[in-house]
Amino acid sequence: MKDIAVIGTGYVGLVVAVGLADLGNRVTGVDIDDVKIAMLNEGELPFYEPGLKDYLEANIESGRLDFTRDIAAAVVKSSVVFLAVGTPPRRDGSANLEYLESSIDAVAEHAPSRTLVVIKSTVPVGTSRALGERIRSRRSAAGIEVVSNPEFLREGRAVQDFFHPDRVVIGAESEWAREILAGIYSALRLNEVPFVCCDMETAELIKYATNAFLATKITFINQMASLADKVGADIALIAKSMGMDGRIGEKFLHPGPGFGGSCLPKDIRALASTGDSFDVHMSLVKSVIAANEELKTRVVMRLKELLGTRIRGLSIAVLGLAFKSNTDDVRESPALRVVADLLEEGAFVRAHDPQAMDNFRAVFPDISYCASGHEAMKGADALVILTEWNEYRSLDFNLMSKVMKGRILLDMRNVLNSRLAREHGFVYRGNGRVIKELIQSR
Ligand code: UDX
Repeated sequence: MKDIAVIGTGYVGLVVAVGLADLGNRVTGVDIDDVKIAMLNEGELPFYEPGLKDYLEANIESGRLDFTRDIAAAVVKSSVVFLAVGTPPRRDGSANLEYLESSIDAVAEHAPSRTLVVIKSTVPVGTSRALGERIRSRRSAAGIEVVSNPEFLREGRAVQDFFHPDRVVIGAESEWAREILAGIYSALRLNEVPFVCCDMETAELIKYATNAFLATKITFINQMASLADKVGADIALIAKSMGMDGRIGEKFLHPGPGFGGSCLPKDIRALASTGDSFDVHMSLVKSVIAANEELKTRVVMRLKELLGTRIRGLSIAVLGLAFKSNTDDVRESPALRVVADLLEEGAFVRAHDPQAMDNFRAVFPDISYCASGHEAMKGADALVILTEWNEYRSLDFNLMSKVMKGRILLDMRNVLNSRLAREHGFVYRGNGRVIKELIQSR
């Protein structure tokens, strides 16, 4: 059992704090946000994440987990400090390390002489080493060591990902540091999780390389889906067969309106910017960024094609505002672009999302928010599905044909049964699965 401080209680920090407490450590989570700290100490989550609340409550109850604003008090009693504060993008795409640096300065001031500092935040290559030097420049004690231990948690599956990661990456300089961190995660070894031990720069780049590759894979299948639409091919079969090739793999080949979220878009911009600063033109990564932006704008273009160009004054039901299902996060969600484009075109938007409406309302306060998907489609001329929530898979076509004014369905996540939709008289368009007859009749 170790005394651990986790600085930053966002998605990553909170899941890590709760997970480490559950592995038997005494953990103090630290954040600058008073309201958040009060909520967390009451066992309340500041965001939606399936399964996390039960772990939060159970570990607070066991006495192994608490939260404070007082970074000094948390650091002084800990032998290991995890840093999981945000590294938001600057205007040029590079990562802003301000929060990380101020946390490191507090650690340098208050940490006991032998402390391990674990960088969980996603940071540009070279940052962990630079942070170690920053500590050493502030105090003479050489006993504080920095390691890089990137996180691969997915929102919506974060608890599962913490306890069953595909791998644990440890970028450390000394055997002492490696052993401490490996010891903390040793319970995961029972699940045969592989540990990758390497230098700090490699660990930092593993994270960016992984996210950039995932973003590329998604963008590839999204562009393929656009082409499949034009030529009358079936993207589901294309993706499935591609995935059967062991060199490719079946995951992350589901077409959608473009990738979003707090990590992929931010990380690939930061990677491109790191490339620039080292004089390496990351042209592939840059194309993915541009292609993803273009794909998001294609949603309203498709809708206009289906409606016959004019969209002004029409009522459009938008189902799904979160950047993916099982989260209330709307950061960089394609829905932000789609709703902005619809409003720009003069449409009325009737929106629904099972979890993300409050967060979306903060950006678009004036559109209509509806209590259910069926409510949103009342009187709508067209309906577009942007997020693959399970509840949208079972929309009632009979009810839809009664309440909707128009017959246009644009299903960007391919969640609806296209045959049933057509049988109920809808003009159905999926993403990359146009049927042959429709192509021939154009
Ligand atoms: C991502 C990484 O997966 C995770 O390892 C990292 O730690 C943080 O960033 P997350 O942002 O939670 O996780 O979302 P992810 O599940 O990766 O999805 C990202 C985006 O890609 C979403 O908008 C999602 O809808 C989209 N996506 C994903 C697709 O459109 N198709 C797919 O096949 C997969």
